[in-house]
Amino acid sequence: MTDMTNPPAVVPPRRVYGRRRGRALRTGQQSLIDTLLPRLRVPLPENAEAKLDPRGLFPGAVEDCWLEIGFGAGEHLGFQAETHPQVGLIGCEVFEPGIARFLTEVAAKNLTNLRLFPDDARLLIAALAPQSLGRAFILFPDPWPKERHKKRRVVSTETLDDLAVVMKPGAELRLGTDVPDYAEWMAERGDVHPAFERVVFTDRPNDWPATRYEMKARRQGRGAALFRYRRR
Ligand SMILES: C[S@@+](CC[C@H](N)C(=O)[O-])C[C@H]1O[C@@H](n2cnc3c(N)ncnc32)[C@H](O)[C@@H]1O
Repeated sequence: MTDMTNPPAVVPPRRVYGRRRGRALRTGQQSLIDTLLPRLRVPLPENAEAKLDPRGLFPGAVEDCWLEIGFGAGEHLGFQAETHPQVGLIGCEVFEPGIARFLTEVAAKNLTNLRLFPDDARLLIAALAPQSLGRAFILFPDPWPKERHKKRRVVSTETLDDLAVVMKPGAELRLGTDVPDYAEWMAERGDVHPAFERVVFTDRPNDWPATRYEMKARRQGRGAALFRYRRR
């Protein structure tokens, strides 16, 4: 029975992701999880009050820090790290096989401007220093289509509130989904959030490649809705 006289210091947030594990990893992938991931892992401050300046996570000086929430197998995250070597990229993902796949690419390309948080992104966002991010990406998040599960959607007013704290003025938030109902949901929340304004665009930015989920959606004839919001 839970001892309510002594509640945990940190109440775990509602789970917003699906599976964390898949089939057993191949030996090489497990070895990267055991050896490379600890070197890339973003540590949370031990003191819950302390804030993490992400610039200190990278070996060299970085001009800016960007965050991707739910990077899947990391194709978009790897592209951003390669295309913007002057930026420090932080990727969050909970699904171990996705992390393992991405580590293979990181090892092959020896990307140094990259750090990973293999846990719920919301824990990291809560620990980041205010105005420490220049961009954030939430691309093709888990759709949670059932009405009773929608409260699990990672794009929520609460997440936008938290991102508003850690994004600097002028920072860009990119969202994408292939689920029409989630696109409406994103717009309903993003368009009325006082800290963000929608950037209307016709030409897709050159540095916004389609993710694996977006490519799959387009192959299957489903469209994709892309959003850009600017932190006021
Ligand atoms: C549908 S997949 C899309 C992956 C990738 N962004 C793409 O477009 O190909 C969503 C991913 O987000 C991850 N995810 C969901 N909630 C998360 C959270 N709170 N923190 C970190 N990762 C999360 C899931 O594990 C899953 O791999």
